[in-house]
Amino acid sequence: MKKNLTLFVLVLLMISSQLMANTRFYRLSYRDDPSTTIVIGWCDNGTSTNARVYYGTTDLGTNAAAYPFSHGIDTTTSYVSLTNHFARITGLTANTKYYFVVKDDQGVSARYSFKTITDDPNSTISFIAGGDSRTLAPFGIGETGTCTGGDCRIIRQSGNTLVSKIRPDFVAFSGDFILTSIITSYWSDWFTDWQLTYGPDADGGLIVPFMTAMGNHEVNADIVNLFDITNSNDYYALSFGGNLFRFYSLNVTADGANVCTDTTQLNWFTNDLNNYTGTSSEPVWKICQYHTPMAPHAETTPNQYMIDCWADLFRPKKVNLCIEGHSHVLKYTWPIVPSSAVGSDNGFIRDDVNGTVYIGEGAWGAPVRPLYTTYNTTAAYNWTRNQASTDGFHLICVTKSKIEIRTVKFDVVTAVGQVGPNDPECTLPANLSIWSPSNGAVVEILNPSLGMTEQQNLVMKVDVFPVPAKDIVTLNVKEKLTGATIEVYSGTGKLVKTEVADIADSYELSVKDLNAGTYFIFIKAAGFSESHKIIVE
Ligand SMILES: [Fe+2]
Repeated sequence: MKKNLTLFVLVLLMISSQLMANTRFYRLSYRDDPSTTIVIGWCDNGTSTNARVYYGTTDLGTNAAAYPFSHGIDTTTSYVSLTNHFARITGLTANTKYYFVVKDDQGVSARYSFKTITDDPNSTISFIAGGDSRTLAPFGIGETGTCTGGDCRIIRQSGNTLVSKIRPDFVAFSGDFILTSIITSYWSDWFTDWQLTYGPDADGGLIVPFMTAMGNHEVNADIVNLFDITNSNDYYALSFGGNLFRFYSLNVTADGANVCTDTTQLNWFTNDLNNYTGTSSEPVWKICQYHTPMAPHAETTPNQYMIDCWADLFRPKKVNLCIEGHSHVLKYTWPIVPSSAVGSDNGFIRDDVNGTVYIGEGAWGAPVRPLYTTYNTTAAYNWTRNQASTDGFHLICVTKSKIEIRTVKFDVVTAVGQVGPNDPECTLPANLSIWSPSNGAVVEILNPSLGMTEQQNLVMKVDVFPVPAKDIVTLNVKEKLTGATIEVYSGTGKLVKTEVADIADSYELSVKDLNAGTYFIFIKAAGFSESHKIIVE
């Protein structure tokens, strides 16, 4: 009897210890190499002491003492009525799952887990990119909201639940988390909803880390105090998968003017692009995210500040993909570069060899807006691949040979299956609702250095032969091209030859003067552009 009573008291003590854990709102972010470091952030009730993260590669449940490693709090912020603790953990092994609990004087948290990113550039990395999860409508131009009562929190929650089901390696969030931090409960609501992204217990309660960008509804302090990023001005870059891709998270004001006037950010960005272009640390891909769109599809026209001060950098520095937010619509562009030449439209021209693909624009629960073409027909740009006024985020899969982009819609949630820890990277859960517009449900950006620049579903209008060629390359056109510009680029993207001609049926391009190697021909005319790979012997 006495033994049973002792056992009962022990069990009671264990249960009460669990109940006394006052931690919540776990979120993970990066300050350094995502293969070997992580920042674990959480909130408590402001009175706990002696908190430490206990962690290891084996799931030891909530038995904090059993974990082989522990790490204390590196910094604490009191912000928006939340006490936020951050443990900056280093020395981790790449591509490895870690289980953890937080134990303080008031108890032990639930057991969670995270996975470090692979450091092998021959691997596959998946991430979800989206933004604009602020609730309440209407505020923007034409913003009526698609959510009951104008409160879009349920849409945000749908997106968060889909993160849990898709199980990406990380989430890139392009800003406008909430309406305003002046009303502090908005952040508490946001973190409450973020808990829906946590994986099932069978997957160790997996939490997916963040790359965060600031929106116009945030102030700098929001991102620093709530996600512990390294730069108080809210821009930073990290490399993923060794040198598979470099990811830039940038800071743009609502009008985009700071892109030019904030020379500290511009110099940092330019220097970083230089350090990672044509050097031994050059990644296979460069990817950007920022809030205000350079190529918007709701509310306004392309942003000239951003075109002048950033997009001109993207072509020579080979930025392949930019993720934009702010407009609460969905869009894909074709690969484009800044241009005012024949065939350009609103500051850009399609360039399948050197272009940057722009996607977005922040539809993670904020009230969706009408497309700009609804009231401005000249906004039907010839470089827009597809656009739609609906909720969603992008699921991006990166390998050395290509970047594959899909957009997940939030109209199906409960029927969507669950990706498990043993499924390959980029496994799509069953019943996932994928946006399927006219130019294809999957955008592929193919690695030009592997000779694959043509976009999926692209019907070529010019035949280019022979491949390989010795002296002459023949261009046969299906429709007459008046005033066509023919540009030849080396395999490293350097312009080596330009000719201008009217092409009725056929054109002979001399390549006698070119050294043996791989080249790309870019043919442009009014409303037309196309690229082809050639080999000169
Ligand atoms: Fe915004």
